[in-house]
Amino acid sequence: MKTIAITGAAGLVGTGLRRELLQRAYALQLLDVKSIDPCYANERSVVVDITDQAALTAALRGCDAVVHLAACTTDAPWPQHVKLSIEGSISLFDAAREAGVLRVVYASSHHVVGLHPRAPNGPRLGTAAQVRPDSRYAVGKAFGESIGAMYAGKYGMQVLAIRIGNVNTRPIDRRRLGNWLSWRDLGQLVALGVEHPDLVFSVVYGVSDSSGRHYDNAAAHALGYRPQDGTAAAAFDAQVLQEDPPPAAGSAASRSAAELTLGGQFSQNEFVGDTARLLV
Ligand SMILES: NC(=O)c1ccc[n+]([C@@H]2O[C@H](COP(=O)([O-])OP(=O)(O)OC[C@H]3O[C@@H](n4cnc5c(N)ncnc54)[C@H](O)[C@@H]3O)[C@@H](O)[C@H]2O)c1
Repeated sequence: MKTIAITGAAGLVGTGLRRELLQRAYALQLLDVKSIDPCYANERSVVVDITDQAALTAALRGCDAVVHLAACTTDAPWPQHVKLSIEGSISLFDAAREAGVLRVVYASSHHVVGLHPRAPNGPRLGTAAQVRPDSRYAVGKAFGESIGAMYAGKYGMQVLAIRIGNVNTRPIDRRRLGNWLSWRDLGQLVALGVEHPDLVFSVVYGVSDSSGRHYDNAAAHALGYRPQDGTAAAAFDAQVLQEDPPPAAGSAASRSAAELTLGGQFSQNEFVGDTARLLV
């Protein structure tokens, strides 16, 4: 049985991912600044701060792979992102290397391309598109992708960066119709990162089948990803559009960064000037 370490395991994604990975018969080493109780069969909780590299290295020894979730997940001031997303990710990759854990699944975010326009019916954005972070949070995520690329290319690690959309039981608004990720599809993507024999470094979108909206996830499909969930079913559209109708055509809201970009409210926060510059 392979053992997978999860940093940030006590958080929202970690809690759901534990269930998915246990079902796939992995043992889990749960790393977080918070103790996790209860632990289920084949789980072990270790309280560790990812910025304490010596303790993190010790906690990773003997694991087969690590899923790196721990991060500052709000658009907080710079120091929090520098500490957790930048120093924390350097610590994680160095600790994994030192501990001989050469497989890393890195939780990136769709917000690294958040300032790209969000066209309801295409064109769809592939993973080779220019990085356009919509926030300090997203800059931290883009840094993590870069360090993953370097450590894979230079040190022979195998790294999958998953640009997660929104993990949830269902799409919660119009924007999330295009980036919803179901729990079991998250489990499938993480398992690909842990198991794929030919993985060197790949970036994929962490979205279920979003029926042609927003993202081109060919990179994930090339690795064998076959989402089991998606928003192809029209039932989702009707329900979400009722709860979250589009703004009136020509209104200020219809021209806002929240409405026009992939990043939504993260793009809107602190946005200065006219959104026309985003559409070129
Ligand atoms: N929730 C989503 O839909 C979503 C979308 C895109 C990306 N992501 C990414 O997935 C990851 C997990 O997201 P989440 O929603 O579960 O976040 P969360 O805030 O719920 O959980 C983060 C966890 O990290 C832990 N943590 C914080 N600082 C730590 C440290 N120094 N050392 C060890 N652990 C520490 C926290 O205690 C917490 O349990 C994040 O990297 C996030 O950016 C999530």
